[in-house]
Amino acid sequence: VNPTIGIDIGGTKIAGGLIAPDGEILRRARRESPAQDVDRLADSVADLITELSDGVEVERAGVACAGYIDKAGTTVLFSPNLAWRDEPLKERLEQRVSVTVTIENDANAAAYGEFKHGAGIGVDDMMMLTIGTGVGGAVIIGGRLFRGSYGIAAEVGHMRVVPDGIRCGCGNRGCLESYGSGTALVREARALVAGASPYGATLRERCGGNADRLEGKHVTQAAEDGDPAAVELLADLGRWIGEGAASMAAIVDPARFVVGGGVADAGDLLLEPIREGYARQLTGRGHRPVATFEAARLGNDAGMVGAAALVRTEQR
Ligand code: BGC
Ligand code: NA
Ligand code: ZN
Repeated sequence: VNPTIGIDIGGTKIAGGLIAPDGEILRRARRESPAQDVDRLADSVADLITELSDGVEVERAGVACAGYIDKAGTTVLFSPNLAWRDEPLKERLEQRVSVTVTIENDANAAAYGEFKHGAGIGVDDMMMLTIGTGVGGAVIIGGRLFRGSYGIAAEVGHMRVVPDGIRCGCGNRGCLESYGSGTALVREARALVAGASPYGATLRERCGGNADRLEGKHVTQAAEDGDPAAVELLADLGRWIGEGAASMAAIVDPARFVVGGGVADAGDLLLEPIREGYARQLTGRGHRPVATFEAARLGNDAGMVGAAALVRTEQR
């Protein structure tokens, strides 16, 4: 069986891999991501595919990106945090390469990667939550990725959790993403740093007193070093995510939630509050089995490994 190519288009980097049927990454390559310029982006992705397939027999590539992808895997219909609207990405790429290209939602791809080769092995019904710039979601039911009728299932970042809440990149107000994403974490941390509270002193130091320079990783590092404010910021984030996951369980009832994305690097500092928020909000709690929450095991590779696995198993 030939390897397949997986590409993960992120906000700053495009990661690509030549992936063996057992999930092993045989080759890797990366490019900067001109995410807001679709023509240059297509050039970069095509470059990566050409580089990765050099000298090997490859027929298919899966390309993961943040946004609503049509069911056929051809078009980015909409993306809350990118300027893409009805972008025929498959066609643009296939004009530039000789393999068959299929587009996939980033969280769906990561979920499938974890399901086949990571934290979801052995579980039939699982959900994945990716916590980064946005909040991504995926549902795997009976071992198959569930896409809905139009490809847009599991957009859990855009479940409303606060009526009339904060405006989201999607245009609505009060989406989970506005409270439970890395973007929300940074917003709250910057607000703390910008104020005068002595509680923000450690974080203020970490960004040299300039709130605009504070990033998510500063919060995670400060929390790991025991700063109570940073621990609390991650706990608040986790509570939003955990309570949101309880609403998802009311519909899907998965055995496992796999939590990935950049913010998941915080490990138990995020996962424990997620579990607590979930346990507190789960309907029928005390009288039902409780899903387990596991950190993603493939880290940043989940998207490309999963995108390659989806085209290999023809779930795409
Ligand atoms: C988008 C999803 C994406 C997620 C993570 C959300 O804002 O709506 O399509 O999976 O961000 O990138
Ligand atoms: Na998804
Ligand atoms: Zn939204």
